[in-house]
Amino acid sequence: MPHSIRLLPDLLINQIAAGEVIERPASALKELMENSLDAGATDIAVQLEGGGVKLLRVRDNGKGIAKNELPLALMRHATSKIASLDDLQRVASMGFRGEALASMAAVAQLGLSSRTAEDAHGWKVEAIDGHISEPIPSSQPQGTSIELRELYFNTPARRKFLKSDSTEFAHCDETFKRIALSRPDVAFSLQHNGKTIWQLPAAPLPNPLPHTGEGANVSGILERIAAILGPEFGEAAVAVERRAANLSLQGLAALPAYSRSTRDAQYFFVNGRFIRDKVASHALRQAYQDILHHQRHPAFVLFLDMPPEQVDVNVHPAKSEVRFRESQGIHQFLFHTVQEALSAPMKDSAPQPAAANGESAVPSPHPAYTPRQQGIAFDAAQRQATYRLWETQTAEKGEERREKGKTEPAFDVTLPPSPFPLPAVEHPLGYALGQLSGVYILAQNAQGLIVVDMHAAHERIVYERLKAALDNERIAAQPLLIPVSFYAEPLDVATVEAEQEALHKLGFDLAPLSPTQLALRAMPTMLKQSEAETMALEVLRELREYGASRALTERRNELLATMACHASVRANHALSITEMNALLREMEQTERADQCNHGRPTWFQMTMGDLDKMFMRGK
Ligand SMILES: Nc1ncnc2c1ncn2[C@@H]1O[C@H](COP(=O)(O)OP(=O)(O)OP(=O)(O)O)[C@@H](O)[C@H]1O
Ligand SMILES: [Mg+2]
Repeated sequence: MPHSIRLLPDLLINQIAAGEVIERPASALKELMENSLDAGATDIAVQLEGGGVKLLRVRDNGKGIAKNELPLALMRHATSKIASLDDLQRVASMGFRGEALASMAAVAQLGLSSRTAEDAHGWKVEAIDGHISEPIPSSQPQGTSIELRELYFNTPARRKFLKSDSTEFAHCDETFKRIALSRPDVAFSLQHNGKTIWQLPAAPLPNPLPHTGEGANVSGILERIAAILGPEFGEAAVAVERRAANLSLQGLAALPAYSRSTRDAQYFFVNGRFIRDKVASHALRQAYQDILHHQRHPAFVLFLDMPPEQVDVNVHPAKSEVRFRESQGIHQFLFHTVQEALSAPMKDSAPQPAAANGESAVPSPHPAYTPRQQGIAFDAAQRQATYRLWETQTAEKGEERREKGKTEPAFDVTLPPSPFPLPAVEHPLGYALGQLSGVYILAQNAQGLIVVDMHAAHERIVYERLKAALDNERIAAQPLLIPVSFYAEPLDVATVEAEQEALHKLGFDLAPLSPTQLALRAMPTMLKQSEAETMALEVLRELREYGASRALTERRNELLATMACHASVRANHALSITEMNALLREMEQTERADQCNHGRPTWFQMTMGDLDKMFMRGK
């Protein structure tokens, strides 16, 4: 071997380091924008050319860098953000290593121009191939402007790994969005090849999000989220907000109707830093487990804030992973908070994505489609109005009938349940008017018309009831007067013999009659007998395939969903008004009743206003 051990030259050291820190233009953009935030900027402008490879410039109005510190800023291990291990362990800034600018200076032509509040004018340095020039005066307003030209011009091997301009731009755009989402209190803009892509004003923010210091609140977050992810996201989402001990979780979690086939709408921030984390992903996935098809991905923008010393940010070269000191506790906190937000029964005053004045901060493009109506819990005045409406209607109907000399009971109007006259409990989903095409229930509440997908709603109710019953040890069984016997595969018969206990828990009493015959002697009380056979066979198959213990634990929800699907009312099944009202009341009491087990909405509201608009009334 001709080589002996030697120290590498600085430029090469930095180029090697850059390979980790600056993978592509988007990573440089992230570092530059984070530096601007660390410098206290309230306005950050990004200009890109050629996907950020040709030119990447970030300008801010932060505190700036003094002339004598300009060369230092470009040197490796030079930082103003930490001075000791102690500082590192409680770092609250985005940067802390003093590596980013040095890495960029090693792999691009870098220009750095800056001016502090004390300077009469700005100063500029340039770095090419690691050589830093002397500072020269520049016309620069207070703040810093950094530009990178021809990324990887001096390391062709790496440059080859860059993708097309449009792909690199797409990565930059994503980076930009993440950072812009994290700080609604800061104005951001992005231009690519001279075209303005984003222009995001700062939101006025009274209540601080912990990581923003002065200034964010939920409404500010909402405006920024709506600007970046589109109003559909805000409309399909519930607000998440909880503070416990020294943890805080805020943001929006989309209901399943907005789910994605990719993970592209998952934004999770820890102390303002966008991160991907296994613990958090797992907790959030679990929070959605019950309402989201397994091939769909939940969508959310969530900010977890916690004392910096409880999370290690120094575990990944791009600072995009963290390690929680109490990962178990974080998992629990995330899981419970998001699950509760998603499943709040309608009568709870679920946290509303609304500003203090009660108006939704997220503009809604489809006002007629609002699966989770704001302020669904009526106040007393609304209750009176509902009642008065009923009173007049019933009176009118009575008169009509008398006029026509009819004696049969009113079919299409049901009185509010006793105690009459005023229902003690408000009924957010109102009272049934009738059934449409055997599929939908039409109901009336104080705001207008409610349309319910009968099968989907019933399925969810049965499913939740089955879950609750199984949680209480076993599902109640109803003995059949005449046992149902049916043909079964020998394997099914064997399963019946082996899994008696599990079957009992699930509310089934099955007995082998012959090697190919089974008798069903009892079945779950809440299920219908018509599909008993198919259901029993499916349950047996599940028990056989996964084993009783897995079927009752990990697979429990799938198993119960199958049962619920067989048990719930089919389309084209006529329901009486009383039955419909009973269904509406049950929906109000049921957790997660806003979606069926497959994540489709179960109901929506058309307000009188929506209807008036359709008919151009009052115009
Ligand atoms: N936009 C800016 N405004 C003011 N000062 C800046 C700006 N960008 C960088 N600096 C200064 O230059 C120093 C070096 O920046 P650099 O990004 O290389 O390291 P860092 O941010 O300290 O740590 P990290 O490598 O983790 O990003 C910073 O510590 C900061 O003092
Ligand atoms: Mg930095």
